[in-house]
Amino acid sequence: MESILVTGGAGYIGSHTCLDFLEKGYCLIVIDSNINSSTQSLKQIIKIGNLVGQDFKERIFFVRGDIRNEKLLNDIFIKAEKTNKKVYSVIHFAGLKSISDSVQDPLSYWDNNLIGAINLLKTMKKHDCKNIVFSSSASVYQNAKISITEKMEKSPSNPYGQTKLTIENLLIDIFESDSNWRIANLRYFNPIGAHESGLIGEDLLNEPTNIFPIICQVANGFRQKIDIFGNDWPTKDGTCIRDYIHVMDLAKAHVASLDYLMKGSPKLINLNIGTGKGISVLSLIKEFEIINKCKIDYKFVNRRVGDLPQVVANNSLSLSLLNWKPVKDISDMCADGWKWAKNNPNGYKKINSSTENISIKNLL
Ligand SMILES: NC(=O)c1ccc[n+]([C@@H]2O[C@H](COP(=O)([O-])OP(=O)(O)OC[C@H]3O[C@@H](n4cnc5c(N)ncnc54)[C@H](O)[C@@H]3O)[C@@H](O)[C@H]2O)c1
Repeated sequence: MESILVTGGAGYIGSHTCLDFLEKGYCLIVIDSNINSSTQSLKQIIKIGNLVGQDFKERIFFVRGDIRNEKLLNDIFIKAEKTNKKVYSVIHFAGLKSISDSVQDPLSYWDNNLIGAINLLKTMKKHDCKNIVFSSSASVYQNAKISITEKMEKSPSNPYGQTKLTIENLLIDIFESDSNWRIANLRYFNPIGAHESGLIGEDLLNEPTNIFPIICQVANGFRQKIDIFGNDWPTKDGTCIRDYIHVMDLAKAHVASLDYLMKGSPKLINLNIGTGKGISVLSLIKEFEIINKCKIDYKFVNRRVGDLPQVVANNSLSLSLLNWKPVKDISDMCADGWKWAKNNPNGYKKINSSTENISIKNLL
């Protein structure tokens, strides 16, 4: 059976996406350095499979390592082919993702994200694997807008977004040099929530800077209040508006994108992956309080440099091209995300015992 190489597959979005691919019968090889994750996420996926009577462990293989290691990537492609798991496509999540860290330490971001992508693409080309779904980001867009379309001006305001746009540009160059490639750049808006089982979710190995995990920390009593950056933005309640998308809807967009890429002739597509609905910070907090029956204290502080009042996707291209649409609403996101965070306040650290009999097969 041919396989898909999932870089960064042990991370937040990667693990949810692996689960969806496994449920649909695919074979996966995950490479992850675990710089921001643990393999416990993959064990939990196997556990979810067991709970619904599906055996995933014969279809998921792991390699701990860094995609900047060209020899290691090459070994993966060779071993996969030798063991009848030839890699025909890549889903590329691996990368560093904090905007604020990228401002503090741009070199690490350029090194990890860009060198990693270059190594990966070189190795793919060498092994004639020309199908890739890339995790890009709404941060490639320049301006605050409602209904951002894929064609709008790109000019990221931080090194993280610059690395994403540079990789997109590299992929365009590759496609122009060889039109046999099939490439999807998925520009995610704001993924939140967790799988409905509460068994996988976002594992916070560093202090979160995104709003949803901070709301969960307040709900868990780890913080007293959430700081809301500005109540004087030009929005209906003065707080910033974002396009939140349930991580499982986002996961399904990867399966749908790969299906779309593999149909018909080779192509390069750029797609916004959001719901197209804007939610203000205050509305998100209110939804969380109502659905989870708890109180989230907050205080208003000054606007954060670089923030934008409204960032909302126009997702009509994704809806029309992919056999996909987001089905989960903001209350699902708040309920599922809190189920994970409430049951696992320390992320994956303390749940090893329930999966101690589960092992992940190493590919190499
Ligand atoms: N979470 C978001 O809000 C968001 C929004 C837009 C885009 N993205 C992008 O989506 C992708 C996945 O994001 P996430 O939220 O799951 O992040 P994550 O940190 O949970 O997952 C990334 C994974 O990649 C691994 N990794 C990092 N560098 C690596 C390397 N050089 N070699 C091998 N593994 C490496 C990490 O250990 C981690 O498991 C990232 O590329 C991120 O930039 C995320």
